[in-house]
Amino acid sequence: MTLTTPSENAADAIGQDEELARIEVVKPVSIIVPTYKEVENIPLLIERVRKLRSDSGVEAELIFMDDSSCDGSVEAVANCGHDWVRIVERHQDRGLSPAVIDGFRIATNPVLVCMDCDLSHPPEKIPQMVYGLSAGQQMVIGSRYVPGGSTDDDWGFFRWLNSRVATLLARPLTAVSDPMSGFFALRRRDFDRASELNPVGYKIALELIVKCGFENVGEVPIHFSDRVHGESKLTLREQLKYIQHLRRLYLFRFANAMYLLQFLVVGALGVVVNLVVLTLLLMFGLGPKTAIAGGIVVSVCTNFLLNRRFTFSYARDRNPFKQFLGFVAASAVGMAVNFLVSIYLIEYVLDDTRTSIYIASLCGIATGMLFNFLGNRYLVFRKRYIQ
Ligand code: GDD
Ligand code: MN
Repeated sequence: MTLTTPSENAADAIGQDEELARIEVVKPVSIIVPTYKEVENIPLLIERVRKLRSDSGVEAELIFMDDSSCDGSVEAVANCGHDWVRIVERHQDRGLSPAVIDGFRIATNPVLVCMDCDLSHPPEKIPQMVYGLSAGQQMVIGSRYVPGGSTDDDWGFFRWLNSRVATLLARPLTAVSDPMSGFFALRRRDFDRASELNPVGYKIALELIVKCGFENVGEVPIHFSDRVHGESKLTLREQLKYIQHLRRLYLFRFANAMYLLQFLVVGALGVVVNLVVLTLLLMFGLGPKTAIAGGIVVSVCTNFLLNRRFTFSYARDRNPFKQFLGFVAASAVGMAVNFLVSIYLIEYVLDDTRTSIYIASLCGIATGMLFNFLGNRYLVFRKRYIQ
């Protein structure tokens, strides 16, 4: 994509609201670069960003967040001769993610970008990323794994596998294809909304996706170049921290109580609808089988509509027909589980007295509903992130 006139492009993307698009795109950018012992790379990155500023007209400040590298990085920035570049020396709470978060906090512009210092991430993609934000995306990631994205050839099999496995483990949290990326853009006001930021390790983008509740994350393909100068700081120890990070994110994300509650309320309403329809059909003189079937069909439809509208409202913009089929399938699974659990309890755990049958049946209903809920929550109405 060429971006000679970014405001026009953005205006196209969001149609009517040209004024908004213009404001969004001309918003200046703060580029935050966590650095540790990157003295050779700092002048090279400054030059790339200088060129970007002059070629694309993007107004950008560049802030290096350095964890006391003491390798001449501070001097390199001081001598660069640009007032839009600065370096912050950190002495406490060392680490890549805390450095990025501190950088976002002190940044002065409404669009925040994070990138590595080692030239793995092409700053030339920043206008395209900002454009994604102005077209409504909440975060835009520079991605290796979308069509058009790539990595240098000498990425060994294990590094590739490692990255893929890490991405797979994050899958229930986001469908973004490269959530491990350290190159991303977001709005300052969304960052300010993030609750309980507590990243362990390297995966700051993933942390923000989950904690800010981003549902609309865009990906811009990038070529990820291997660093030429210095070494990667992504040690095995850092990678193990990822497991700890994932655990926290899973706990944060899957506080499902509210969804379950809404689902149960809809289910209870469904019982009422079912009985009302049944009564009406009997009143109109239909036979009991037809009336029961009518009650079921109508209540399944109203349950579906209510769940789609309220319980899982985030999925409202997706194909309702597919969702309806999924909903019916999930209900069928729920019924099967209900039946099997009830029978199992009567056969092997309880006896077949009247009380036991009721207990078994209630247990069956509870597990059936749980399966029904999980099927709807994680399959039929799963959260999906737009690419
Ligand atoms: N301030 C600070 N403190 N910066 C750090 C620290 C730290 O403790 N550790 C690393 N950095 C800086 C590096 O100087 C570099 O600019 C950036 O953070 C990323 O570190 P690298 O050492 O270059 O990591 P990588 O290239 O192996 O990992 C990259 O790819 C991963 C995906 O494969 C990064 O982009 C990761 O964020 C990404 O997850
Ligand atoms: Mn790197």
